[in-house]
Amino acid sequence: MTPPAAVDRTGQMRELFPHLDQRIYLDTAAAGLCWKGHGAAVAHFFDDVKSRGYDARPEWWAMISKVRGRLAQWLGVAPQDITFVSNTTEGLNLAAQSLEFNRGDRVVCAQDEFPSVIRIWKAAERQGAELVRVPIAREQERQARLMEAATAGARVLVVSQTHSGTGTTLDLAALGQHCRAHGTLLMVDGIQALGAVPTDLAGVDIYASSFFKWMLSGFGFGILVTSARAREAMAPAWQGYANMDDARQLQYAHVNTPALYGLDATLDLLEGIGWDTIFARVRALGDQLIAESNRLGLDLITPHDQRAGIFVFRAPNGEATRLRLAERNISVSARGEGVRVSPHFYNSTQDVQQCAAALAEVLATS
Ligand SMILES: Cc1ncc(COP(=O)(O)O)c(C=O)c1O
Repeated sequence: MTPPAAVDRTGQMRELFPHLDQRIYLDTAAAGLCWKGHGAAVAHFFDDVKSRGYDARPEWWAMISKVRGRLAQWLGVAPQDITFVSNTTEGLNLAAQSLEFNRGDRVVCAQDEFPSVIRIWKAAERQGAELVRVPIAREQERQARLMEAATAGARVLVVSQTHSGTGTTLDLAALGQHCRAHGTLLMVDGIQALGAVPTDLAGVDIYASSFFKWMLSGFGFGILVTSARAREAMAPAWQGYANMDDARQLQYAHVNTPALYGLDATLDLLEGIGWDTIFARVRALGDQLIAESNRLGLDLITPHDQRAGIFVFRAPNGEATRLRLAERNISVSARGEGVRVSPHFYNSTQDVQQCAAALAEVLATS
């Protein structure tokens, strides 16, 4: 199915996401909805391209290079900065294990980071590096605490652009400037921001994301973006036929080509809607959620002015609250100290209003 060239009316757009007729789905931070047509784009690779075996290789090579170019242009990086990987976690591991460390090097991250950000430094520790986990007492101070810890001697500052458990969204430009001034590499897990807010990689050395959340795609496909400065500091940890002729090449083998066909069609859809429209809508639904939560007296952990599409509300028992919302046909996640509500552009203002009202009722009776 070819996506409409410009889908700018909410009702028309929602036809592409039939699940929204059944359910108040506010859980894109767990997994985004695939649009009607994504499957056909992936099937096209199997049925019309790979059905001709290696004879069709020029076609899938052209698709790989097309999608690489599209992503590079969108993210403001060079095509050769992009390595296709299986997921965010693979990208972060590949980068962390390819960096070379000296005894005493520090790697700085927040104490409460996502496991894939924290658990990838075993090889660095074996080389004598130290992982410094910074406690974050208040969400409003997350960025400042990380910057304080990433001063002289810090080799890498590694962050989630948008924190999966609190929604706090960091200013990558400010972090990048700080890291450059201190000779520190900035490494970013971008999955909870990509497709929800603009992504500026100008000051970022290492970036990884997959596409199954805010980019509406499937599992098992992502990107690792490395700056030339970062690649200078790396010796690719994983070796194969695809990087045997280039000592700095991270791409070591075949990539998930069917997923590339799906992503190409999804980029057509999202660009047809318009990134400005998508980002503005995520912002507006967030504004509405903040206003509703103020009116209803909900305790929002996410800072109003440092956010993307994730909103975490304090609840005494997150999982029990999630289940009670699920009984009311509302999908959210239990996270951290409460429940995580994550509206995307395909949600309506009614979805947001009904979720906030239901949450207030559930919390009042728990
Ligand atoms: C911050 C963060 N990083 C990584 C992941 C996992 O992504 P992947 O399966 O692409 O490694 C998630 C959620 O699933 C996440 O919230």
